Amino acid sequence: MQPPAPYPPPYAQGSAAPAARPHTGVAVGVALVSCFVMPVVYVVLAFGLLGHRFGGGPSFTPLGVAMAVGFALWITALVLSIRSILVSGRLGASRAGGIAALIVSVLSVVTAAAAAAFGLILLSGGGAHGRPLRVRGRPRTAPTRRDTAWSVDPSGALPDASRLTADERAREAARWTRDAREEHASIAAFARLSVDLLALGAPPGLVERAHRAALDEVLHARLAFALAGAYAGEPVGPAAWPEALDAEAAERPAGTLRRVALESLVDGAYGEGLAALRAAAEGSADPAVAAVLATIARDEAGHADLGWDVLAFCVALDGSLAPALVEAAANLTVRADSALERAHAASVREGLDALLAHQGGTAAVERSRAATSTR
Ligand SMILES: [Fe+2]
Ligand SMILES: [Fe+2]
Repeated sequence: MQPPAPYPPPYAQGSAAPAARPHTGVAVGVALVSCFVMPVVYVVLAFGLLGHRFGGGPSFTPLGVAMAVGFALWITALVLSIRSILVSGRLGASRAGGIAALIVSVLSVVTAAAAAAFGLILLSGGGAHGRPLRVRGRPRTAPTRRDTAWSVDPSGALPDASRLTADERAREAARWTRDAREEHASIAAFARLSVDLLALGAPPGLVERAHRAALDEVLHARLAFALAGAYAGEPVGPAAWPEALDAEAAERPAGTLRRVALESLVDGAYGEGLAALRAAAEGSADPAVAAVLATIARDEAGHADLGWDVLAFCVALDGSLAPALVEAAANLTVRADSALERAHAASVREGLDALLAHQGGTAAVERSRAATSTR
């Protein structure tokens, strides 16, 4: 009996193996979709983060899903296009299509990177949340940790977070944690200002007000950390922050007068004034949050006032600061990205012009001060 014949070799007798299908059309299609989806996702993400920065903005959950979809599309386009090139031989429409899909895939990453950079520019603009601690010109804040020491509202009033959804609570926790870190950094900024004022031979009234402003910021930080903790459902507080010492080392030695003048204009008169206007305009249905915002609005207006007085002191010491201050005021207008910011920048610019012309105390300066005063 004949043993059973072995299975014939596949595709015996010269029949060619069927060519793997390069799926070039699919690759091109997915790459094109990816090219449009990726930048849109990142722009939406940038505006979402921007919204959260000002206490609003969409939920992060759909943004996370959109980012995952965009990334999956990009990976698919990349794999299909490379496969098309490898499978389709040296020449032919499939290979050309695969190369086109690969180029489009790479372009989609480039456009997404450009969109992300656009978002970062948006996020880095403004700088109007009270007086920041700057290290080499850039605002810095402390990292946070789970800690009860700062997250106690001295007034004892906490918001009612039970009516909010989990997403809303997370958004409010992120917003108040960010605000708390900025208020906490302002303590260091005013501590540094008080030493700067001593170095410049300032009168005791300005030094005293710098110290009082630092104490205001201690209260603001505690109020904001308390709100952040109430919304987060766990205590939030600042961690150790050795970077605060970098500001001392990096920025004190040279050009103190010029730096103090520019910071008093940009971070004091403009930034603290804008923080006062925002806090006054925001309001809240929750009485605990409304009370915190009212306290912050009142104190930040006072800090903006202090900024004007320190600025007048600096200009009286050295009138040659004027061009740099005028340029900084013009930049405030350029960077303003809302009607409120534009109006406030114009008011500050007018106040600066008057201060430079008359060494302070003029009607324009008073108008600019009154515009940020919420008392
Ligand atoms: Fe402040
Ligand atoms: Fe503050």
